[in-house]
Amino acid sequence: IDIFGDERKNSKGLNMNIISESEPFFAALDKFAQTQWQAGPLVNGETLAGEIKEVVSPFDTTKYVGKVAFADKNAIETAIASADNAFVTWSRTPVEVRASALQKLADLLEENREELIALCTREAGKSIQDGIDEVREAVDFCRYYAVQAKKMMAKPELLPGPTGELNELFLQGRGIFVCISPWNFPLAIFLGQVSAALAAGNTVIAKPAEQTCLVGYRAVQLAHEAGIPKDVLQFLPGTGATVGAALTSDERIGGVCFTGSTGTAKLINRTLANREGAIIPLIAETGGQNAMVVDSTSQPEQVVNDIVSSSFTSAGQRCSALRVLFLQEDIAERVIDVMKGAMEQLTIGDPSYIKTDVGPVIDATAKANLNAHIDHIKQVGKLINQLELPQGTENGHFVAPTAVEIDSIRVLEKEHFGPILHVIRYKAADLAKVINEINSTGFGLTLGIHSRNEGHALNLADKVDVGNVYINRNQIGAVVGVQPFGGQGLSGTGPKAGGPHYLTRFVTEKTRTNNI
Ligand code: SER
Repeated sequence: IDIFGDERKNSKGLNMNIISESEPFFAALDKFAQTQWQAGPLVNGETLAGEIKEVVSPFDTTKYVGKVAFADKNAIETAIASADNAFVTWSRTPVEVRASALQKLADLLEENREELIALCTREAGKSIQDGIDEVREAVDFCRYYAVQAKKMMAKPELLPGPTGELNELFLQGRGIFVCISPWNFPLAIFLGQVSAALAAGNTVIAKPAEQTCLVGYRAVQLAHEAGIPKDVLQFLPGTGATVGAALTSDERIGGVCFTGSTGTAKLINRTLANREGAIIPLIAETGGQNAMVVDSTSQPEQVVNDIVSSSFTSAGQRCSALRVLFLQEDIAERVIDVMKGAMEQLTIGDPSYIKTDVGPVIDATAKANLNAHIDHIKQVGKLINQLELPQGTENGHFVAPTAVEIDSIRVLEKEHFGPILHVIRYKAADLAKVINEINSTGFGLTLGIHSRNEGHALNLADKVDVGNVYINRNQIGAVVGVQPFGGQGLSGTGPKAGGPHYLTRFVTEKTRTNNI
């Protein structure tokens, strides 16, 4: 789809069904099967030392991927001081120059696609298809924000005024943007935040999730190679409690862009409110308790495909993933029956095999929490299906895809970020109650609807308070510029990533009235 006007189209990714694309891809990917990567704080382009953390693969913790040095106090201080200093020049650099560095970065991402996919697979446990999609989304973000920034910032907006008076409105960067990104999209969301902030004329300090520092480090190296000045983009790996807290409490920063849990977003908000200095924006994209509503006009076989992909792709570790499926009772038995069979077709295992559908979850803590929830919810509800974990998964953080029938969304106190689907039957007469239940969670990220009654579907789409509604398809995999992504309420502050209003929150506005 041509979403960028004349300039660029969405990245086309790779089609694994075409042998001339897949063969060279796998040959190139193979070269990174044993690579050991190293990362550390990248401050003014120099990799600094720090406390070392060994990185192992989530699908087999006996397999080493590399090591990362965490940023210490000196690294943090130097990065902030340098990014602060670099802001005056970068914010006054013509937007065309900033945009062309991001276009170049997009090209470099495509040129280094196999290494980046290998990193996503080996460090984050992503499947090959997820890795392909991840690089594609990162490329799209860079190109999209480059084009958007030029549209918004190349010329001031002319405003009316009395004869002889020239009124203009300028948009400019806000200062240092602290970008704190999650492990589930270690490249796409990482670079989505960073490229938006840079395009808008901010300098950036990027703190990756502590589980996925190697991917982030490689992305920043490529950004520097693409022409983003080394003092303009700084990289500080470390924990939220140390690096995140030091950055968000510093009075020199100009904004924070965060993707992660609702609890952490609220913590950042409090930190920003309590610190000295200016009042600055927090852009937060957080969790969800995403529902799909399937009415009795739907075709069970069509619906099941979308249920299974929405729930179990990426081992359910997507903000958009389906957590609570509402089935109208006249169709429920049939859908559950077909779904049980479809779940049995899922291949669980090493994500570096193309046939793998469900890889591991990110770490031991996630696995323990998800398994504890499965044990609990099986007592509260009725088990529909829990897959057996195959041999060869013993050394990894695997959680068996599970579906459980429950009575009400209210038994779920929070989001469970993994391959667990909860199913609720409803009567046609109780649709208002269903809408109320979904809205009562306070989250509002994605909603899936399956219905062949268009009026019914549109009514639901209107009444459920969410950021992204998907009718008669799955509810994951938002495409940049096509389905701008982000929620409301407990799911985030907006604006939507990959949408036309995103950059507006990364800039400040200035008018100039000229009577010369
Ligand atoms: N942007 C991702 C998706 O749509 C969110 O996790 O699936």
